[in-house]
Amino acid sequence: MSAGEKSQVALVTGGIRGIGSAMCRELIHAGYQVVTTYRSPQRKAAAQEWQRELAEDGLEVGLIQMDVSDAASCRSGADDLIERYGRLDVLVNNAGITRDVVMKKMTLEQWQEVIHTNLDSVFNVTHCFLNGMLEQGYGRIVNISSVNGQKGQFGQVNYSAAKAGIHGFTKALAQEVARKGITVNTVSPGYVATDMVMAVPEEVREKIIAQIPVGRLGEPEEIARVVRFLVAEESAFITGADFSINGGMHMY
Ligand code: CAA
Repeated sequence: MSAGEKSQVALVTGGIRGIGSAMCRELIHAGYQVVTTYRSPQRKAAAQEWQRELAEDGLEVGLIQMDVSDAASCRSGADDLIERYGRLDVLVNNAGITRDVVMKKMTLEQWQEVIHTNLDSVFNVTHCFLNGMLEQGYGRIVNISSVNGQKGQFGQVNYSAAKAGIHGFTKALAQEVARKGITVNTVSPGYVATDMVMAVPEEVREKIIAQIPVGRLGEPEEIARVVRFLVAEESAFITGADFSINGGMHMY
């Protein structure tokens, strides 16, 4: 990492658990000042507990409250971040949820919850920081999509639609900011060993794993490593791209 990157500030949304947590660790190790989000005051204690765990490993992470599905909450969280850190160089839109159920049983609420949290969030959070990145003439944005946004998944019309939407968002914004020193890319993880995937019934999960040519679930660190590569200053010529990390589950 160059001297300039040492003071860079990175926000990973939804970094307390799962892949986001591995990304936070990876970026802290790479020298970034890393900040992550917790959704509501009720979740503050759990977030602080995780912060303490990292501190025991000698790693420092900042916490801000931000409900990514809510534009006003994003604005106040972003103001908080800028007040404390002064700038944002790297944004990883990672926060996401599942509400898996077949379409014929899906409620409007299950549809909206996933669209608001997984897709509106990408607009909400990016919107708060884009002007700052444009003013400083530098930024790295990585949007976390999914293999299921590429191929669709039984029981996930909400999730697949939101994750597919991220691809369009990335490609459009990448063009708008390409000459301003800002890159925008998508990372599409496959099935990774996190709470989200472990919540899939075991029998269903085993059938899914059987469809992965590498023969296993991915590790969060295997996704985090690619994010670290993409947010480096040296990755300036990579924009509007989608990186599939799925053990060969979907190739196109
Ligand atoms: N393709 C075709 N048919 C399928 C199927 C598939 N992939 N999966 C199930 N079916 C069939 C079943 O065989 C069954 O058929 P019969 O009625 O003829 O027996 C029927 O559909 C109903 O299946 P289920 O019993 O599974 O239905 P359910 O209502 O109990 O559960 C479900 C539905 C909740 C969607 C469940 O199938 C499920 O959890 N699936 C996994 C969804 C998934 O992959 N989620 C990923 C979460 S992790 C994540 O999202 C991270 C990421 O980015 C990868």
